[in-house]
Amino acid sequence: MTEAHTFLPYSRQWVEDEDIAAVASALRRDFLTTGPLVDAFETEFARATGARFAIACNSGTAALHLAAMALGLGPGQAAVVPTVTFLASANAVRMTGAEVIFADVDPFSGLMTPATFAEALDRASSQNVKAVVPVHLNGAVCAMAELAAIVRPRGIGVIEDACHSLGVPEIGSNAYSDVACFSTHPVKTIATGEGGVAVTMDGRLARKMTQSRNHGMTREKGDFLNGDLAFENGVQNAWYYEMHELGWNYRQPDILCALGLSQLQKLDRFWRRRTEIAALYDRLLAALAPIMRPVSRGRGAHGWHLYVLLVDFQHLGMTRTQLMDALRDKGIGTQVHYIPVHWQPYYRERYGHLSLPGAEAYYERCLSIPIFPKMSDDEVRYVAGTLANIVGTGG
Ligand SMILES: Cc1ncc(COP(=O)(O)O)c(C=O)c1O
Repeated sequence: MTEAHTFLPYSRQWVEDEDIAAVASALRRDFLTTGPLVDAFETEFARATGARFAIACNSGTAALHLAAMALGLGPGQAAVVPTVTFLASANAVRMTGAEVIFADVDPFSGLMTPATFAEALDRASSQNVKAVVPVHLNGAVCAMAELAAIVRPRGIGVIEDACHSLGVPEIGSNAYSDVACFSTHPVKTIATGEGGVAVTMDGRLARKMTQSRNHGMTREKGDFLNGDLAFENGVQNAWYYEMHELGWNYRQPDILCALGLSQLQKLDRFWRRRTEIAALYDRLLAALAPIMRPVSRGRGAHGWHLYVLLVDFQHLGMTRTQLMDALRDKGIGTQVHYIPVHWQPYYRERYGHLSLPGAEAYYERCLSIPIFPKMSDDEVRYVAGTLANIVGTGG
């Protein structure tokens, strides 16, 4: 590959002609917002993830918020969230009025571990901890069975932030969680522009999330409390609806569900290609250790949302900014995932200064390099070769 290639971002969507055709055809139908394609997308998404119920909504953040509300999180309660994640994992907890207990992470994988979770629980011993949000960072799956063994005896709910791990076969069956939440933002495994899906095996939680997604409204005859308004001569008034709890407009329109349905058909292909790219990087970058090495991974399958390197910048003789600038000059986009959330001024003001050394060590060294299904092997080799030249092992 020559250097005159197009810019390689750290991730991007892959929208093909049939995706565009699916959206165009949705635009010609009667429904632009909630219509039959929402149901169809949910049915297919549940099938693809092995869940019984899927609730489509308009962002991964909304999915996390719906899950937190369905578990009954609210003021006077708290939820444990790893600090190395996107803001949304923590914000969804705060949006219910509950407090966030930040857990530290393993410095090599960035994942919350049973030990860092247990430490956060100890720190929160005076608080009413009602939920935990394990984040499958980069696509690596947390030690769910071990986490479940800690939370189950305590009645703590589990919301998987699976925004990085769509495609991993076991996620969605909720074997160790109540709800798993996905994002269909363009950098994620499938894209709908904005979008999210919460999946669960629990019909009661599914019903709650479906109602909260649409203003907390119900049209179910058996739910109605105002019988005099709801019925005339025992027959339900066609226009009638009721609201029992505060809800939101988190609806995902038919137009975007058309795109989601089309993209879902490629989920396996996209995930497999990400997996191939990761394997190629692993091979090509092995010689760059110890200056650069891939983050360690959880057990089992991986979603490969991100390919993250841990860089010893001191040994390299460059700062992270200098390395990112040098790569950008060569047409390679990189990103930092993530600034520990407990450092954000909002959370610092609320919870004071916390020392979470695993997260700080991970943050100091992490750098995400390009990985997306449309990337060619040549482009992967180009990125690896450019890194090797910078490290000085490029021959
Ligand atoms: C780990 C994680 N959780 C939640 C979200 C929120 O998803 P969305 O952007 O669809 O609201 C993201 C998105 O970047 C994410 O990476």
